[in-house]
Amino acid sequence: MLEINDLWVDINGDQVLKGVDLTIPRGETHVLFGKNGSGKSSLLMTIMGFRRYKVRQGRISFKGEDITQMPIDERAKMGIGLAFQRPPSIKGVKTRDVFDICNSNSVSCEDLADKFEFSELLERELNVGFSGGEMKKSELLQLLLQDPELVMLDEPESGVDLENLKILGKAINKLLQKYLWRTRAKSGLVISHLGFILNYIEADAGYVLMDGRIHCRGNPRELFKGIQRHGYQECVKCQR
Ligand SMILES: Nc1ncnc2c1ncn2[C@@H]1O[C@H](COP(=O)(O)OP(=O)(O)O)[C@@H](O)[C@H]1O
Ligand SMILES: [Mg+2]
Repeated sequence: MLEINDLWVDINGDQVLKGVDLTIPRGETHVLFGKNGSGKSSLLMTIMGFRRYKVRQGRISFKGEDITQMPIDERAKMGIGLAFQRPPSIKGVKTRDVFDICNSNSVSCEDLADKFEFSELLERELNVGFSGGEMKKSELLQLLLQDPELVMLDEPESGVDLENLKILGKAINKLLQKYLWRTRAKSGLVISHLGFILNYIEADAGYVLMDGRIHCRGNPRELFKGIQRHGYQECVKCQR
């Protein structure tokens, strides 16, 4: 589904990714760990195609096609979707209107909002005055409407209370459904800081991003335990 080879990226002249290699097969969900500022969000933003993230070297391919230079809207149409870590607030734009634009399947926004306890927010301006958890929910519901094949989630659990975590977990599970009519369906790349997300998704692999490169490929739960016990630096040292 996604293949990244030797990806070097800079932002405003600062090198943030220094040779990232990453492959996500169809139907698999991979989790990315790493301390603040290690470049996790930059990697997702680069895969999505934001122009501020300059690819200096390397290649990104999606479903076998080279998308390294492809504009962001074409990537979205091909089936890549991203839930932002910090989505923008947009005055004057109703959340419902954004949901309608995202809606690729003619799903009823009302039903979806009702199911995920979001109805009261539909008429509000997008993210204006939303709590952290409400923004996360809005992001996930937009993705459910868009229904991408590659689902990228940037710290979906941060700032979310325990009750809403369950609701978000349900949305994430639906987004990442592995099988559809017995064929492998969605792939995911999920950034997690707190590891809560591991209770809600079937993660197939995990990594640590450090110094602009990917280290420690392995079982995500074991990796997370290792990070909790020894910290990122020691975890990377073992060089699995
Ligand atoms: N728009 C930007 N301009 C300048 N530096 C940026 C910008 N966005 C991110 N950075 C820098 O790039 C590095 C990686 O950031 P980021 O990808 O957000 O890390 P993470 O998501 O792992 O916390 C950080 O040092 C950050 O300050
Ligand atoms: Mg980040």
